[in-house]
Amino acid sequence: MNALTLWRHARLATLAGPNPWGWVPDGALLTHKERIVWAGPLAELPAAHTTQIQKDIDLGGALVTPGLVDCHTHLVYGGQRAAEFEQRLQGASYEEIARAGGGIRSTVAATRAASDEALLASATRRVQSLMAEGVTTVEIKSGYGLSAHDEARCLRVARALGDALPLNVRTTYLGAHAVPPEFAGRTDDYVDAVCAWMPLLHAEGLVDAVDAFCENIGFTPAQTRRVFEAARALGLPVKLHAEQLSDQGGAALAAEFGALSCDHLEHLSEDGIRAMKAAGTVAVLLPGAYYFLRDTKLPPIDTLRAHGVPMAVATDHNPGTSPGLSLLLMLNMACTLFRLTPEEALRGATVHGARALGLHDRGTLAAGQRADFCVWDLEHPNELAYWFGHNPCRRVIHGGLERTV
Ligand code: NIG
Ligand code: FE
Repeated sequence: MNALTLWRHARLATLAGPNPWGWVPDGALLTHKERIVWAGPLAELPAAHTTQIQKDIDLGGALVTPGLVDCHTHLVYGGQRAAEFEQRLQGASYEEIARAGGGIRSTVAATRAASDEALLASATRRVQSLMAEGVTTVEIKSGYGLSAHDEARCLRVARALGDALPLNVRTTYLGAHAVPPEFAGRTDDYVDAVCAWMPLLHAEGLVDAVDAFCENIGFTPAQTRRVFEAARALGLPVKLHAEQLSDQGGAALAAEFGALSCDHLEHLSEDGIRAMKAAGTVAVLLPGAYYFLRDTKLPPIDTLRAHGVPMAVATDHNPGTSPGLSLLLMLNMACTLFRLTPEEALRGATVHGARALGLHDRGTLAAGQRADFCVWDLEHPNELAYWFGHNPCRRVIHGGLERTV
């Protein structure tokens, strides 16, 4: 006999089915180990299951949503860049600082100088902030090591977080983030190195996907293509930092490789959107970076919506362009700055975020999905994008188990 847990008396935003929010006002969930066995109105609980219920938990009418998915972060790094923030406030641009050797490269120096223990400790504190607001799956990119040794260290720290905490971590290899000083003026040689390290990192089980920064201050489309070819040879899915500062045609290139997602996208063209739609690529919107860079060029939300491209929302947590640690604040900004609806924003941080990671077993509350869900001190799911600077997360269940953070 299956030992099932019944979570009753919940206001469910399942995000499944045709109704707005997948709304079920007097809902219940049945879970078995790490999976949802059944979700729906309590009155319709199948009699066949009732004899198998071992634990019966009353949620007191609270709002329940799927666990949140932060599908784009750079959480593992040393140091911080508050001085660069001050420079930008005085008029220097992100690109100028990067070209002068600051930006990503300054974080690379600090990351290389940090011990494994220090990297793990700082990343643990950061990820715990995300978890406190209901994040149950997080993607973590490398990209501040930029040597075989240091990229491996950062990816191992990301894996260690997933091993130590009640949280699912997906790792992304972003060796093609910037050119490190030892390769200055030899970008193509560096791309060769990024491709050569990839099978070694993959053989150690450190890589779930491969990303690159295709930009005038990053890598050209031709260089990005080489990174993607190396990924394809290993059967690894790709993602791309695309059209953040300029239109490089990166989204169409990524779509050609069946990319899971293209991220940022402020300068995305309609051709890029068509290519993404045809490839089933998710558009990952990062309002924190848009806000913190004081950007004025909005991503083409209406056209993405018109073409039916799924939109995810993530923190892009990193020390240079988005030092925030609140996915809920990103939901609010996705609405205020990008004009997403609150429901689109929540879908962006759940089901579409999961899809941006190639995961189809989470992001909704339905039979067969992972039992990852949040209980909120809220009446309605539209409040998730409404309050900011306040954490209404009351309980988090990860893989069927209640966790303390
Ligand atoms: O997602 N655009 C490139 N990468 C990061 C910023 C990295 C940094 O400035 O340290 C981003 O915005
Ligand atoms: Fe990023």
